[in-house]
Amino acid sequence: MRKILILGSNGLLGQNLVRHFRKRNDVIASSYSAKNKLSELGISYHRVDITNRVAVAELVQSVHPDIIINAAAYTNVDACEDHPEICWNTNVRGVENIVEAAASVKPVLVHVSTDYVFDGEDGPYTEDDQPNPRGNYARSKLAGENVVKNSDLEYILARTQVLFGSGRDVGPNFVTWVIDQLTHKRKIRIVDDQIGSPTYAPDFCEAIDRLLQKETFGLFHISGPDILSRYDFAVKIADVFDLDKSLIERIKTVNLNQKAPRPVNSAFKIYKLINYTGWEPHSLDRALELLKEELANQDG
Ligand SMILES: NC(=O)c1ccc[n+]([C@@H]2O[C@H](COP(=O)([O-])OP(=O)(O)OC[C@H]3O[C@@H](n4cnc5c(N)ncnc54)[C@H](OP(=O)(O)O)[C@@H]3O)[C@@H](O)[C@H]2O)c1
Repeated sequence: MRKILILGSNGLLGQNLVRHFRKRNDVIASSYSAKNKLSELGISYHRVDITNRVAVAELVQSVHPDIIINAAAYTNVDACEDHPEICWNTNVRGVENIVEAAASVKPVLVHVSTDYVFDGEDGPYTEDDQPNPRGNYARSKLAGENVVKNSDLEYILARTQVLFGSGRDVGPNFVTWVIDQLTHKRKIRIVDDQIGSPTYAPDFCEAIDRLLQKETFGLFHISGPDILSRYDFAVKIADVFDLDKSLIERIKTVNLNQKAPRPVNSAFKIYKLINYTGWEPHSLDRALELLKEELANQDG
């Protein structure tokens, strides 16, 4: 049985990773908060701040994992403009701490990165395309990637984007936010000039699992296969969840006044993932249906 240490286990992706990998592995969870949001699963949980070099070293030495999956990050893109130190400390120094702590234990390191490393002027992107990050979050995530690339560890560098799924006490993701707004009959304004490839969190976990099983390392783009605007995505969500799509107003990015720049088209080409694993993520329609089932089971 592989021993897998999952960092950022309280986050949307972290919770999905814990739920996925605990089925066939010895999973140890760690996150920033004192509270383990998945305490009902009964897995071992360590409260560790990845910016604390000593604490990370002690955690990795005591757990001695075969695999570390780092889903911990400072993910509030606009807040990264206001708090560049927290952003850099978490997304770069935190990764340096993990790499340093892992040097003697030599686990495989799976590190999660983002489509924001691209400027979005020329998407969809392959793994061979040149990053050009804009904004503090984007620059910190690219710097974090480079820390992993320059390490002596075997690694999977997994860029993903527009994650959606379910989690306990996590902030809303685009899908759960749209569902919530439309369920309460609120009008929402959604941009039709930001294009991406939404990613169903359980599919991301499956992709990582398959890459690990094949011992295939390197940089991978992991997203769903569909490429569409945020507006079209919102309409699709309304369709699948039987909500009123007339409440969705089409707007442009300039109307939003967001602090950090957003890539216009940062969709992924995922041929590399498909070629290496022989597996394809679900279509967006199917993934939304699966999420609907997930949410219904949680309610019940
Ligand atoms: N969400 C997306 O659409 C998206 C898109 C592209 C890439 N990504 C990447 O995917 C990864 C996971 O994202 P997510 O959406 O799951 O984010 P999230 O829900 O914000 O979760 C991030 C987790 O990181 C933990 N964390 C933050 N600072 C920490 C620190 N100093 N020490 C230890 N843990 C810390 C938080 O812990 P607590 O909850 O315990 O405080 C939180 O659970 C990130 O690397 C992100 O950049 C996400």
